Amino acid sequence: MSNFEKRISELMAKMNLDQMVGQMVQPERQFITPEQVKKHHIGSVLSGGGSVPGDNKPEDWIAMNDEYWAASMEADDEHLAIPIVYGVDAIHGNSNVTGAVVFPHNIGLGAAKDPEMMERIARTTAREIAVTGVEWTFAPTLAVARNSHWGRTYESYSEDPQIVTEYAPRFVRGLQSDLGEESVIGCVKHFIGDGATVHGIDQGDAQIDEEELRRLHLPPYQAAIDAGVLTVMASLNSWNGLKCHEHRYLLTDILKDELGFRGFIVSDWDGIDCLAEDFGKAVELGLNSGMDMFMVTEKWEEFIQHTKTLVNSGRIPKKRIEDAVRRILRVKFEFGLFDKPRPAERKLSKQTEIFGSKEHRDVALEAVRKSLVMLKNDDALLPLEKSTRILVAGKNANNRGHQCGGFTVNWQGAISNEEIVGGQSIWEGIQTLAPSAVLSDNLEGNEANPDQHDVAIVVIGETPYAEMLGDIRVPGLLQEYSTFPNSTPIPLDDSEVAEVYASNLYLHEMHPEDIATINNITSRGVPVVAVMLGGRPLVVEKELEASSAFVMAWLPGSEGHGVADVLFGDFDIQGKLSFSWPKYDNENWNVGDPNYNPRFPYGFGLTYDKTNN
Ligand code: GLC
Repeated sequence: MSNFEKRISELMAKMNLDQMVGQMVQPERQFITPEQVKKHHIGSVLSGGGSVPGDNKPEDWIAMNDEYWAASMEADDEHLAIPIVYGVDAIHGNSNVTGAVVFPHNIGLGAAKDPEMMERIARTTAREIAVTGVEWTFAPTLAVARNSHWGRTYESYSEDPQIVTEYAPRFVRGLQSDLGEESVIGCVKHFIGDGATVHGIDQGDAQIDEEELRRLHLPPYQAAIDAGVLTVMASLNSWNGLKCHEHRYLLTDILKDELGFRGFIVSDWDGIDCLAEDFGKAVELGLNSGMDMFMVTEKWEEFIQHTKTLVNSGRIPKKRIEDAVRRILRVKFEFGLFDKPRPAERKLSKQTEIFGSKEHRDVALEAVRKSLVMLKNDDALLPLEKSTRILVAGKNANNRGHQCGGFTVNWQGAISNEEIVGGQSIWEGIQTLAPSAVLSDNLEGNEANPDQHDVAIVVIGETPYAEMLGDIRVPGLLQEYSTFPNSTPIPLDDSEVAEVYASNLYLHEMHPEDIATINNITSRGVPVVAVMLGGRPLVVEKELEASSAFVMAWLPGSEGHGVADVLFGDFDIQGKLSFSWPKYDNENWNVGDPNYNPRFPYGFGLTYDKTNN
């Protein structure tokens, strides 16, 4: 970080407590107006997943942030001109916005094993964000996911910290680059151990010793900090029974002091709420942990009041507030926010035609092609000839929403083609390359007939989910889990837990329609190429057995054509598993485990070149 300290000190010398505390607050856009941003000196506003302005076009986003920005810059006797910074979850492209290029989720990018491409993806994503007048994305996620029951496994590049550590600096540099007109502020998350919780329970307890925490989960953050990442988001999980959001040792002693992080730490979504029954106490615990900005979506006025009371009573030292504000201002100065024009006047705001452009989509297409992993290919059935007589079936064959997964248009993702403007479904990609291909009427393959079809491509797998709603939790588990000493309070009765995705890893149980479709087709004498969409490895013994070839496509995003490119051999299939693949639900293999014995090992992936299969 270059030296803006003098300018920061001069500005801070003018700031009263109200103006300082206001900088530390990040409400959600639905709960704050531009007038309130000015009145309360607010430092940042965010959009939660699916919280979009107007018609959800780039112009609507620019107009929205321009209004917030203008209010924040309207100096008068009460208010100092300090620009707000607007944050979104652009975690696989600027995927909230209609017509965005939606990139493969991180689990597929991990399989591509291409750090150089990561920088190009990030740079393209930064352009797709900046063109909407937004300055900050809560990405990349640096989770090292160690249990595929976790609903956020797909946000992780790998169970192997080496891949995550290689990717972290490349993605940060791609997003932030020269901190200029085509750059955005990066935010590595969630610090720390989000992928290490017992049973993969989202926001659960990472019950690991410090040696393992440092060996597996810390290196990506060091690499990101060395690359100059400007913000870090604290995690909602606990470490050995204590929430990261109140963990001074993790956030201050390690992240700030030991790793030398000089940007600011932002809390996660209302993450301080669960620190204490009393909100004032929760605020105190959050402040004392070392967090600097607080994502308090609705209760932001209460937060401000409690913080001022805590400072005026001496329970929170003024220097803690000053540290937070200095860090926030440092990031805003580093990013040039004081010198950038208002959102509506910025360079890319006048080039909205680049949003969702072919140039950007070509980067996503490359990522899709490189992410696919082939698990089976009997008799070298793949790649297919374009003249092959093909029947296409499966619930995920013609659904761009299903291809994209969570954090797309809505928090929980999209479930139709119509919601994803631009790109192609896998079917649309196949149809383009093989015009004689036919789509099964009800996607169940009843038309299969060996006199008319040489092969069927059946697209199976998961449907979209996000966060805890994607967890796979064995019934009764919660009783065991919640008896851990000082564990995060989890309702004893499973029925109290938000609806989770499934109760085990068996695809044929969570989605019986898939094996039914495959069997429906093979029983009529037509061989099947299975293409699976999903955010994690699942147990697929039945589907593998019934298929002649099997390709894992993860969550490829809007550019489904990339799947077709590989199925027809226009591009070799090159992906290698960045996660161990299980054979039973009660396994949990990670590369390096003693007696390592997964169904497919980390690094597995067949290619069309028979010499190296
Ligand atoms: C969510 C997620 C976090 C996201 C934030 C803002 O709860 O945990 O990854 O950035 O809230 O949407």
